[in-house]
Amino acid sequence: MSINEGYTLTVLGAGVMGSAVLSAILASKPSPFPGKIYCCTGSESSAQRLQTTYGESVIATFGKDNVKPVEEADVIILGCKPYMCQAIIDSVKSALNSDKIVISLLAGWTIEQLQNVSGTSYIARVMTNTPAKYGCGTAIVSFSNDLQDSKFDSTRDSIMKIVDTVGMAMELPEKNMDAATSLVGSGPAFVLLMMQALAEGGVRMGIPYETAKKCAAKVMEGTAKMVLESGQHPEALKSMVCTPGGTTIGGLMVLEDKGIRGSISRAVEEAANIASSLGKK
Ligand SMILES: NC(=O)c1ccc[n+]([C@@H]2O[C@H](COP(=O)([O-])OP(=O)(O)OC[C@H]3O[C@@H](n4cnc5c(N)ncnc54)[C@H](OP(=O)(O)O)[C@@H]3O)[C@@H](O)[C@H]2O)c1
Repeated sequence: MSINEGYTLTVLGAGVMGSAVLSAILASKPSPFPGKIYCCTGSESSAQRLQTTYGESVIATFGKDNVKPVEEADVIILGCKPYMCQAIIDSVKSALNSDKIVISLLAGWTIEQLQNVSGTSYIARVMTNTPAKYGCGTAIVSFSNDLQDSKFDSTRDSIMKIVDTVGMAMELPEKNMDAATSLVGSGPAFVLLMMQALAEGGVRMGIPYETAKKCAAKVMEGTAKMVLESGQHPEALKSMVCTPGGTTIGGLMVLEDKGIRGSISRAVEEAANIASSLGKK
């Protein structure tokens, strides 16, 4: 079970996330690179839109025409809504077999459920996020037991290269997937709330909104880069910004008084608990 140069890739459900991953693959050209790419949707209008967007790089299909792309696929990226997965897989069931590799972007669907519904044991379960559309996504990948066999080292490596195109991919065991759904999948919404609050603080103190918004976004981008590139602990970097008796320590004390640190951590916990309960339904 290997992924060879010129393999056939089928994105089954090329909506927001499916298209984000597809765009990332086309832009980054990981090796091995697919020789044929299908993107499958539920409607003619979506298929037409995708064909216009990607041109000759892909073959866009919808409805009954999705059977052939699945039949030809070596690798299937599953990008449909979780509640539609069973029905969509059923509609292409005749084309599935145990040799396919499935990379699932679905929240809530476990590797075992995906194996049962797809009939293949070669599953990579991925949780990524919307910044993937801009090449700055984060992705957590868990592999099925069968793919973890050492004879599939190069297959796992190829899958990691495919997923890494969204920005950054890291592997974790499946037991961490609910936490990843929260931290990675919901994380952008939590960060956007913080960003908006920073910008509004600037507005409150007289900075025009558009400038305040750009400042808040760039401050967050720059701070994230500083953590990633320096490798230093965020607490160490934070203490470097705190001049004794200065502005930053004053602001930080207000945030600590209001319990912001615990609230953010608890938000991750709450979203992970909800992800876990959705998976049990
Ligand atoms: N959006 C996020 O922030 C996010 C974050 C992390 C994970 N995810 C996961 O990503 C997955 C996709 O979410 P999304 O937001 O990208 O959904 P989406 O934009 O609604 O995309 C769903 C896709 O499935 C297609 N589809 C519908 N019926 C189909 C059929 N019968 N056969 C083939 N394709 C069909 C849709 O086509 P039509 O356009 O024709 O309906 C559309 O292209 C979800 O499982 C979600 O859990 C999303």
